Amino acid sequence: MKRVETIGVIGGGQLGRMFALDAKRMGYYVVTLDPQEHSPCGQVADEQIVAAYDDLGAIEELGRRSDVITYEFENIDIGSVRHLESLSYRVTPASNVLHVTQDRLLEKQFARDAGLQTTDFASVRDAGDLDKAAKTIGFPAILKTVRGGYDGKGQWGADSIEEARAALEAAAGAPLIFERMASLKCEVSVIATRSSRDEIVAYPVAENTHDRGILAMTIAPARIDEAIAARAREAAATVGRGLRIVGTYCVEFFVSTAGELMLNEIAPRPHNSGHYTIDVTQCSQYEQHVRAICDLPLAPPRLLANAIMMNVLGTGTGNHLDGVADLLTDPTIVVHMYGKRHAVARRKMGHFTMLVDGPVDDAAIARAQAALAKLRWVRC
Ligand SMILES: Nc1ncnc2c1ncn2[C@@H]1O[C@H](COP(=O)(O)OP(=O)(O)O)[C@@H](O)[C@H]1O
Ligand SMILES: [Mg+2]
Repeated sequence: MKRVETIGVIGGGQLGRMFALDAKRMGYYVVTLDPQEHSPCGQVADEQIVAAYDDLGAIEELGRRSDVITYEFENIDIGSVRHLESLSYRVTPASNVLHVTQDRLLEKQFARDAGLQTTDFASVRDAGDLDKAAKTIGFPAILKTVRGGYDGKGQWGADSIEEARAALEAAAGAPLIFERMASLKCEVSVIATRSSRDEIVAYPVAENTHDRGILAMTIAPARIDEAIAARAREAAATVGRGLRIVGTYCVEFFVSTAGELMLNEIAPRPHNSGHYTIDVTQCSQYEQHVRAICDLPLAPPRLLANAIMMNVLGTGTGNHLDGVADLLTDPTIVVHMYGKRHAVARRKMGHFTMLVDGPVDDAAIARAQAALAKLRWVRC
Protein backbone atom coordinates (compact mmCIF):
# COMPACT_ATOMS: atom_id res chain seq x y z
CA MET A 1 0.00 0.00 0.00
CA LYS A 2 1.23 3.51 -0.84
CA ARG A 3 2.73 5.36 2.12
CA VAL A 4 0.35 8.07 3.32
CA GLU A 5 1.68 11.61 3.25
CA THR A 6 -1.50 13.57 2.64
CA ILE A 7 -4.82 12.95 4.36
CA GLY A 8 -8.03 14.34 2.87
CA VAL A 9 -10.93 15.16 5.23
CA ILE A 10 -14.45 15.67 3.94
CA GLY A 11 -16.09 18.12 6.35
CA GLY A 12 -14.43 21.05 8.08
CA GLY A 13 -16.07 21.10 11.51
CA GLN A 14 -14.54 20.78 14.96
CA LEU A 15 -14.06 17.03 14.70
CA GLY A 16 -12.02 17.56 11.55
CA ARG A 17 -10.09 20.31 13.31
CA MET A 18 -9.10 18.14 16.27
CA PHE A 19 -8.27 15.30 13.87
CA ALA A 20 -6.11 17.64 11.77
CA LEU A 21 -4.26 18.91 14.86
CA ASP A 22 -3.21 15.35 15.73
CA ALA A 23 -2.46 14.46 12.11
CA LYS A 24 -0.28 17.58 11.79
CA ARG A 25 1.58 16.73 15.00
CA MET A 26 2.35 13.35 13.47
CA GLY A 27 3.74 14.98 10.35
CA TYR A 28 0.93 14.54 7.85
CA TYR A 29 -0.23 17.09 5.30
CA VAL A 30 -3.97 17.70 5.63
CA VAL A 31 -6.45 18.87 3.00
CA THR A 32 -10.07 19.45 3.98
CA LEU A 33 -13.19 20.03 1.89
CA ASP A 34 -16.01 22.14 3.28
CA PRO A 35 -18.50 24.61 1.76
CA GLN A 36 -17.66 27.23 4.40
CA GLU A 37 -14.45 29.20 3.94
CA HIS A 38 -12.10 29.24 6.99
CA SER A 39 -13.94 26.29 8.48
CA PRO A 40 -12.76 25.12 11.92
CA CYS A 41 -10.72 22.39 10.23
CA GLY A 42 -9.66 24.64 7.33
CA GLN A 43 -8.03 27.01 9.84
CA VAL A 44 -5.54 24.35 10.91
CA ALA A 45 -5.32 22.16 7.79
CA ASP A 46 -2.67 22.85 5.14
CA GLU A 47 -5.31 23.41 2.47
CA GLN A 48 -9.05 23.75 2.22
CA ILE A 49 -11.10 23.12 -0.89
CA VAL A 50 -14.20 25.29 -0.61
CA ALA A 51 -17.00 23.30 -2.22
CA ALA A 52 -20.26 21.51 -1.54
CA TYR A 53 -20.03 17.90 -0.35
CA ASP A 54 -21.76 16.70 -3.48
CA ASP A 55 -19.58 18.68 -5.90
CA LEU A 56 -18.03 15.70 -7.65
CA GLY A 57 -15.39 17.78 -9.42
CA ALA A 58 -14.16 19.16 -6.10
CA ILE A 59 -14.39 15.75 -4.46
CA GLU A 60 -12.22 14.32 -7.25
CA GLU A 61 -9.74 17.12 -6.65
CA LEU A 62 -9.60 16.11 -2.98
CA GLY A 63 -9.00 12.53 -4.13
CA ARG A 64 -6.13 13.61 -6.40
CA ARG A 65 -4.43 15.58 -3.64
CA SER A 66 -4.80 12.87 -0.95
CA ASP A 67 -3.30 9.43 -0.29
CA VAL A 68 -6.23 8.49 1.93
CA ILE A 69 -9.56 10.25 2.47
CA THR A 70 -11.76 10.24 5.54
CA TYR A 71 -14.74 12.27 6.77
CA GLU A 72 -15.62 13.97 10.00
CA PHE A 73 -19.38 13.75 9.99
CA GLU A 74 -21.69 11.15 8.62
CA ASN A 75 -24.26 13.20 6.80
CA ILE A 76 -21.96 13.90 3.88
CA ASP A 77 -23.07 12.84 0.43
CA ILE A 78 -22.65 9.08 0.09
CA GLY A 79 -22.58 9.54 -3.69
CA SER A 80 -19.32 11.46 -3.31
CA VAL A 81 -17.73 8.66 -1.33
CA ARG A 82 -18.91 6.07 -3.86
CA HIS A 83 -17.56 8.26 -6.66
CA LEU A 84 -14.11 8.35 -5.03
CA GLU A 85 -14.24 4.58 -4.53
CA SER A 86 -15.19 4.05 -8.18
CA LEU A 87 -12.04 5.97 -9.13
CA SER A 88 -10.01 3.69 -6.80
CA TYR A 89 -9.25 6.41 -4.28
CA ARG A 90 -8.96 5.02 -0.77
CA VAL A 91 -11.78 6.30 1.47
CA THR A 92 -12.15 5.06 4.99
CA PRO A 93 -14.52 4.18 6.59
CA ALA A 94 -15.90 2.84 3.29
CA SER A 95 -19.28 3.78 1.80
CA ASN A 96 -20.92 0.55 3.05
CA VAL A 97 -20.51 1.95 6.57
CA LEU A 98 -22.17 5.25 5.64
CA HIS A 99 -24.96 3.40 3.87
CA VAL A 100 -25.97 1.80 7.18
CA THR A 101 -25.20 4.64 9.61
CA GLN A 102 -26.93 7.36 7.57
CA ASP A 103 -30.22 5.50 7.90
CA ARG A 104 -31.64 5.02 11.40
CA LEU A 105 -33.74 2.04 10.26
CA LEU A 106 -30.82 0.19 8.64
CA GLU A 107 -28.65 1.02 11.64
CA LYS A 108 -31.09 -0.40 14.18
CA GLN A 109 -31.78 -3.44 11.98
CA PHE A 110 -28.03 -4.03 11.66
CA ALA A 111 -27.75 -3.93 15.47
CA ARG A 112 -30.60 -6.41 15.89
CA ASP A 113 -29.12 -8.74 13.27
CA ALA A 114 -25.80 -8.58 15.12
CA GLY A 115 -27.59 -9.76 18.27
CA LEU A 116 -27.61 -6.37 20.00
CA GLN A 117 -30.64 -4.97 21.77
CA THR A 118 -32.31 -1.72 20.63
CA THR A 119 -35.53 0.07 21.56
CA ASP A 120 -38.56 -1.25 19.67
CA PHE A 121 -38.90 0.62 16.41
CA ALA A 122 -40.91 0.78 13.19
CA SER A 123 -40.75 2.57 9.87
CA VAL A 124 -43.41 5.27 9.44
CA ARG A 125 -44.11 6.77 6.04
CA ASP A 126 -47.83 7.52 6.32
CA ALA A 127 -50.79 7.67 8.69
CA GLY A 128 -51.46 3.93 8.27
CA ASP A 129 -47.89 3.03 9.35
CA LEU A 130 -48.26 5.42 12.27
CA ASP A 131 -51.46 3.80 13.56
CA LYS A 132 -49.83 0.40 13.32
CA ALA A 133 -46.67 1.54 15.14
CA ALA A 134 -48.74 3.22 17.86
CA LYS A 135 -50.59 -0.07 18.45
CA THR A 136 -47.62 -2.44 18.38
CA ILE A 137 -45.00 -0.22 20.07
CA GLY A 138 -47.07 2.24 22.07
CA PHE A 139 -46.25 5.43 23.96
CA PRO A 140 -44.27 7.34 25.10
CA ALA A 141 -42.51 7.37 21.76
CA ILE A 142 -40.07 9.45 19.82
CA LEU A 143 -40.29 10.04 16.07
CA LYS A 144 -37.14 10.89 14.15
CA THR A 145 -36.32 11.52 10.54
CA VAL A 146 -34.68 8.37 9.21
CA ARG A 147 -31.92 10.39 7.57
CA GLY A 148 -30.07 13.63 8.17
CA GLY A 149 -30.75 14.25 11.88
CA TYR A 150 -28.10 15.18 14.44
CA ASP A 151 -27.91 16.95 17.81
CA GLY A 152 -31.60 16.23 18.39
CA LYS A 153 -32.67 17.86 15.11
CA GLY A 154 -35.55 16.22 13.25
CA GLN A 155 -37.00 14.57 16.38
CA TRP A 156 -40.39 14.80 18.04
CA GLY A 157 -41.41 13.27 21.34
CA ALA A 158 -44.98 11.94 21.41
CA ASP A 159 -47.08 10.78 24.36
CA SER A 160 -50.23 10.14 22.32
CA ILE A 161 -51.41 9.33 18.81
CA GLU A 162 -52.42 12.98 18.40
CA GLU A 163 -48.91 14.17 19.15
CA ALA A 164 -47.48 11.50 16.87
CA ARG A 165 -49.77 12.69 14.04
CA ALA A 166 -48.55 16.24 14.60
CA ALA A 167 -44.97 14.95 14.29
CA LEU A 168 -45.83 13.16 11.04
CA GLU A 169 -47.21 16.41 9.70
CA ALA A 170 -44.20 18.42 10.91
CA ALA A 171 -41.89 15.98 9.12
CA ALA A 172 -43.53 17.06 5.84
CA GLY A 173 -43.18 13.74 4.05
CA ALA A 174 -39.71 12.79 5.31
CA PRO A 175 -39.57 9.06 6.18
CA LEU A 176 -39.64 8.55 9.95
CA ILE A 177 -38.62 5.99 12.51
CA PHE A 178 -41.03 5.48 15.40
CA GLU A 179 -39.12 4.44 18.53
CA ARG A 180 -40.33 3.45 21.93
CA MET A 181 -39.08 6.10 24.38
CA ALA A 182 -36.76 4.21 26.71
CA SER A 183 -36.86 4.85 30.42
CA LEU A 184 -33.25 5.85 30.92
CA LYS A 185 -31.00 5.20 33.86
CA CYS A 186 -28.22 6.83 31.88
CA GLU A 187 -26.68 7.11 28.43
CA VAL A 188 -23.22 5.80 27.66
CA SER A 189 -20.98 5.57 24.62
CA VAL A 190 -17.94 3.63 23.57
CA ILE A 191 -15.28 5.13 21.36
CA ALA A 192 -13.41 2.38 19.54
CA THR A 193 -10.95 2.15 16.69
CA ARG A 194 -10.53 -0.73 14.27
CA SER A 195 -7.59 -1.26 11.94
CA SER A 196 -7.52 -3.00 8.57
CA ARG A 197 -5.79 -5.89 10.40
CA ASP A 198 -8.96 -6.26 12.51
CA GLU A 199 -7.30 -5.02 15.69
CA ILE A 200 -9.85 -3.21 17.84
CA VAL A 201 -9.14 -0.92 20.76
CA ALA A 202 -11.91 0.55 22.90
CA TYR A 203 -11.69 3.46 25.33
CA PRO A 204 -13.27 3.36 28.78
CA VAL A 205 -17.05 3.69 28.55
CA ALA A 206 -18.19 7.32 28.74
CA GLU A 207 -21.37 8.52 30.44
CA ASN A 208 -23.28 11.22 28.61
CA THR A 209 -25.82 13.80 29.70
CA HIS A 210 -27.83 15.49 26.98
CA ASP A 211 -29.80 18.69 27.07
CA ARG A 212 -32.65 18.74 24.56
CA GLY A 213 -30.87 16.23 22.31
CA ILE A 214 -27.42 17.88 22.43
CA LEU A 215 -24.56 16.43 24.43
CA ALA A 216 -23.89 18.63 27.46
CA MET A 217 -21.49 16.62 29.65
CA THR A 218 -19.40 13.45 29.41
CA ILE A 219 -18.00 11.66 32.45
CA ALA A 220 -15.22 9.13 31.94
CA PRO A 221 -15.21 6.45 33.02
CA ALA A 222 -18.99 5.96 33.24
CA ARG A 223 -20.39 5.30 36.70
CA ILE A 224 -21.95 1.97 35.73
CA ASP A 225 -21.48 -1.70 36.69
CA GLU A 226 -18.32 -3.23 35.30
CA ALA A 227 -20.45 -6.00 33.77
CA ILE A 228 -22.50 -3.50 31.71
CA ALA A 229 -19.36 -1.60 30.75
CA ALA A 230 -17.76 -4.82 29.50
CA ARG A 231 -20.89 -5.62 27.47
CA ALA A 232 -20.87 -2.13 25.94
CA ARG A 233 -17.24 -2.48 24.87
CA GLU A 234 -17.93 -5.94 23.48
CA ALA A 235 -20.95 -4.59 21.57
CA ALA A 236 -18.80 -1.80 20.13
CA ALA A 237 -16.31 -4.40 18.88
CA THR A 238 -19.18 -6.36 17.31
CA VAL A 239 -20.28 -3.20 15.46
CA GLY A 240 -16.76 -2.45 14.19
CA ARG A 241 -16.27 -5.98 12.93
CA GLY A 242 -19.78 -6.29 11.50
CA LEU A 243 -19.47 -3.09 9.46
CA ARG A 244 -15.74 -3.62 8.78
CA ILE A 245 -15.04 -0.06 9.91
CA VAL A 246 -11.44 1.09 9.54
CA GLY A 247 -11.00 4.12 11.79
CA THR A 248 -12.38 5.55 14.99
CA TYR A 249 -16.10 5.26 15.60
CA CYS A 250 -18.60 5.68 18.40
CA VAL A 251 -21.48 3.54 19.56
CA GLU A 252 -24.09 5.23 21.75
CA PHE A 253 -26.20 3.18 24.13
CA PHE A 254 -29.10 3.64 26.50
CA VAL A 255 -28.92 1.94 29.89
CA SER A 256 -32.55 1.47 30.86
CA THR A 257 -33.90 1.69 34.39
CA ALA A 258 -34.34 -2.10 34.13
CA GLY A 259 -30.59 -2.41 33.48
CA GLU A 260 -30.82 -3.28 29.77
CA LEU A 261 -28.13 -2.06 27.37
CA MET A 262 -29.68 -0.82 24.13
CA LEU A 263 -27.77 0.42 21.11
CA ASN A 264 -29.01 3.86 20.06
CA GLU A 265 -26.68 5.15 17.36
CA ILE A 266 -23.44 4.45 15.53
CA ALA A 267 -21.21 7.34 14.40
CA PRO A 268 -18.52 6.22 11.94
CA ARG A 269 -16.06 8.91 13.04
CA PRO A 270 -14.53 10.42 16.17
CA HIS A 271 -17.27 11.68 18.48
CA ASN A 272 -18.05 14.51 20.88
CA SER A 273 -18.20 12.02 23.77
CA GLY A 274 -14.58 11.07 23.02
CA HIS A 275 -13.10 14.56 23.32
CA TYR A 276 -11.91 13.64 26.82
CA THR A 277 -9.40 11.24 25.24
CA ILE A 278 -7.32 14.22 24.05
CA ASP A 279 -6.49 15.30 27.58
CA VAL A 280 -6.54 12.13 29.67
CA THR A 281 -5.22 9.34 27.47
CA GLN A 282 -1.82 8.87 25.86
CA CYS A 283 -3.40 8.47 22.40
CA SER A 284 -6.57 10.43 21.59
CA GLN A 285 -9.47 9.16 19.51
CA TYR A 286 -8.16 11.40 16.73
CA GLU A 287 -4.62 10.05 16.79
CA GLN A 288 -6.07 6.56 16.88
CA HIS A 289 -8.04 7.43 13.73
CA VAL A 290 -4.85 8.69 12.05
CA ARG A 291 -3.14 5.45 12.98
CA ALA A 292 -5.97 3.28 11.67
CA ILE A 293 -6.34 5.01 8.32
CA CYS A 294 -2.56 5.22 7.79
CA ASP A 295 -2.07 1.54 8.68
CA LEU A 296 -0.03 2.23 11.78
CA PRO A 297 -0.32 0.14 14.96
CA LEU A 298 -3.15 1.12 17.30
CA ALA A 299 -2.44 2.05 20.92
CA PRO A 300 -4.37 0.29 23.68
CA PRO A 301 -5.72 3.36 25.52
CA ARG A 302 -4.38 4.23 28.96
CA LEU A 303 -6.54 6.49 31.09
CA LEU A 304 -4.13 8.87 32.85
CA ALA A 305 -6.84 10.65 34.87
CA ASN A 306 -10.61 10.60 35.13
CA ALA A 307 -12.41 13.35 33.28
CA ILE A 308 -15.47 15.50 32.96
CA MET A 309 -16.00 17.11 29.55
CA MET A 310 -18.40 20.05 29.29
CA ASN A 311 -19.59 21.36 25.95
CA VAL A 312 -19.59 25.13 25.48
CA LEU A 313 -22.60 26.05 23.35
CA GLY A 314 -23.48 29.37 21.79
CA THR A 315 -26.37 31.31 23.28
CA GLY A 316 -27.02 33.91 20.60
CA THR A 317 -26.06 36.71 23.02
CA GLY A 318 -22.74 37.61 21.39
CA ASN A 319 -19.64 36.15 19.80
CA HIS A 320 -17.03 36.89 22.45
CA LEU A 321 -16.56 34.35 25.23
CA ASP A 322 -16.12 36.07 28.56
CA GLY A 323 -14.81 34.24 31.63
CA VAL A 324 -12.08 32.10 30.05
CA ALA A 325 -9.38 33.78 32.14
CA ASP A 326 -11.35 32.95 35.28
CA LEU A 327 -11.82 29.37 34.08
CA LEU A 328 -8.09 28.97 33.54
CA THR A 329 -7.29 29.81 37.16
CA ASP A 330 -8.25 26.17 37.73
CA PRO A 331 -5.21 24.09 36.69
CA THR A 332 -7.32 20.95 36.22
CA ILE A 333 -9.15 22.51 33.24
CA VAL A 334 -8.09 22.28 29.60
CA VAL A 335 -9.93 24.55 27.17
CA HIS A 336 -10.61 23.75 23.51
CA MET A 337 -12.25 26.32 21.23
CA TYR A 338 -13.22 25.60 17.65
CA GLY A 339 -12.58 28.93 15.92
CA LYS A 340 -16.23 29.50 14.95
CA ARG A 341 -17.06 33.17 14.52
CA HIS A 342 -20.77 33.11 15.24
CA ALA A 343 -22.00 31.79 18.57
CA VAL A 344 -25.50 31.00 17.35
CA ALA A 345 -27.78 29.61 20.08
CA ARG A 346 -27.03 25.92 20.83
CA ARG A 347 -24.13 25.74 18.38
CA LYS A 348 -21.12 23.74 19.61
CA MET A 349 -18.41 26.39 20.03
CA GLY A 350 -15.87 24.60 22.19
CA HIS A 351 -15.50 22.38 25.23
CA PHE A 352 -13.35 21.96 28.28
CA THR A 353 -12.05 18.91 30.04
CA MET A 354 -11.68 18.85 33.80
CA LEU A 355 -9.11 16.32 35.03
CA VAL A 356 -10.33 14.54 38.13
CA ASP A 357 -8.19 12.59 40.58
CA GLY A 358 -10.11 9.68 42.03
CA PRO A 359 -13.70 8.81 41.13
CA VAL A 360 -15.92 11.41 39.53
CA ASP A 361 -18.35 12.23 42.33
CA ASP A 362 -21.11 14.79 42.78
CA ALA A 363 -18.65 17.37 44.11
CA ALA A 364 -16.49 17.07 40.98
CA ILE A 365 -19.56 17.42 38.75
CA ALA A 366 -20.66 20.50 40.70
CA ARG A 367 -17.16 21.96 40.18
CA ALA A 368 -17.41 21.38 36.43
CA GLN A 369 -20.87 22.93 36.30
CA ALA A 370 -19.70 25.95 38.29
CA ALA A 371 -16.78 26.31 35.88
CA LEU A 372 -19.15 26.26 32.89
CA ALA A 373 -21.32 28.89 34.58
CA LYS A 374 -18.34 31.29 34.55
CA LEU A 375 -18.54 31.46 30.76
CA ARG A 376 -20.77 33.99 29.00
CA TRP A 377 -21.18 34.96 25.37
CA VAL A 378 -21.14 38.74 25.12
CA ARG A 379 -21.03 41.37 22.41
CA CYS A 380 -17.80 43.32 22.42
N1 LIG B 1 -35.80 6.00 22.04
C1 LIG B 1 -35.33 6.92 22.90
N2 LIG B 1 -35.57 6.79 24.23
C2 LIG B 1 -35.11 7.72 25.11
N3 LIG B 1 -34.38 8.81 24.77
C3 LIG B 1 -34.10 8.99 23.47
C4 LIG B 1 -34.55 8.05 22.46
N4 LIG B 1 -34.11 8.48 21.27
C5 LIG B 1 -33.41 9.62 21.50
N5 LIG B 1 -33.40 9.94 22.81
C6 LIG B 1 -32.72 11.11 23.42
O1 LIG B 1 -32.39 12.06 22.41
C7 LIG B 1 -30.95 12.12 22.23
C8 LIG B 1 -30.61 12.31 20.75
O2 LIG B 1 -31.11 11.22 19.99
P1 LIG B 1 -30.22 10.40 18.96
O3 LIG B 1 -31.04 9.29 18.43
O4 LIG B 1 -28.93 10.04 19.60
O5 LIG B 1 -30.05 11.46 17.79
P2 LIG B 1 -28.91 12.45 17.34
O6 LIG B 1 -28.53 11.98 15.99
O7 LIG B 1 -29.58 13.79 17.32
O8 LIG B 1 -27.79 12.35 18.36
C9 LIG B 1 -30.44 10.83 22.81
O9 LIG B 1 -29.09 10.93 23.20
C10 LIG B 1 -31.40 10.66 24.00
O10 LIG B 1 -31.08 11.54 25.05
MG1 LIG C 1 -26.95 10.72 19.30
